[in-house]
Amino acid sequence: MIFICSLIVIVILSLGFTSNIKTRYSIYYSLAALISILISIYEILRIVSNPKLNGLILSIEKAFMHGNVAISFFILVMFAGALNTKWKVTRKLLSIRAQLAILGSIFILPHGILYLVRFFVLKLPNILSGKTNSTLYLIYIAVGLIAFVILIPLFVTSLKKVRKKMNALQWKKLQRWAYIFYFLSYIHILIVLLNDEEIDLIKLISYTIIFSSYSVLKLVKQRDIKKVRVNSSSSYSCN
Ligand code: HEM
Repeated sequence: MIFICSLIVIVILSLGFTSNIKTRYSIYYSLAALISILISIYEILRIVSNPKLNGLILSIEKAFMHGNVAISFFILVMFAGALNTKWKVTRKLLSIRAQLAILGSIFILPHGILYLVRFFVLKLPNILSGKTNSTLYLIYIAVGLIAFVILIPLFVTSLKKVRKKMNALQWKKLQRWAYIFYFLSYIHILIVLLNDEEIDLIKLISYTIIFSSYSVLKLVKQRDIKKVRVNSSSSYSCN
């Protein structure tokens, strides 16, 4: 439920504030960084003492910390590149695609860093001493880590200042790694959900429908682009 709610809120905010996000992106980045810092402080306090959040605030904190908000931003970035560009909604998303990717990256930082620290400090010693059997856990941490490492250069090169310094071809080539990032993110989430004692089928089905429909849309779009290219090059050679 937290994932679906996060996705709905992020879609509404992104489409409702498109032009504001486009022009005042630095305010949004600063706000995202502030939220990520607050989430990190709360999560560290949770380890050393016992602060308690309740109700809606706790659900919001979980949405950020569990990666639901970040993945909602990445889903918008994915669909911006897969939907029909004649549609108004696609054009709106495309106009703020880089900003959405940067916001998703800022929000995934506390998730990736703190879960990794928790893994090394709290979980790994137990696993090494044989106290827990956790093959799926190890696999999803490894997959998450690889996705996280791939995201770092994608994130940095999405920033306007960095992008301007790169040549277009080099930048485009690097951005192709985003497909591997999306794929690994889905595998990571899938294993996280399958590792739960009680599998949340609604969540599992929602993620699967979103990622598989993205793959189909993207493949169809690539095929259509190829067709147009072949047609235009053959009509060019006829002329
Ligand atoms: C160093 C890298 C990463 C580590 C150590 C890590 C660790 C974890 C852990 C431990 C969980 C389970 C949380 C829980 O239910 O208590 C989780 C869930 C999740 N991770 Fe990661 N993760 C990493 C990278 C990523 C990346 C790059 C993404 C992509 C956006 C991602 C997206 C998610 C999502 C969406 C969930 C929640 C699935 C759900 O219950 O809805 N993670 N991750």
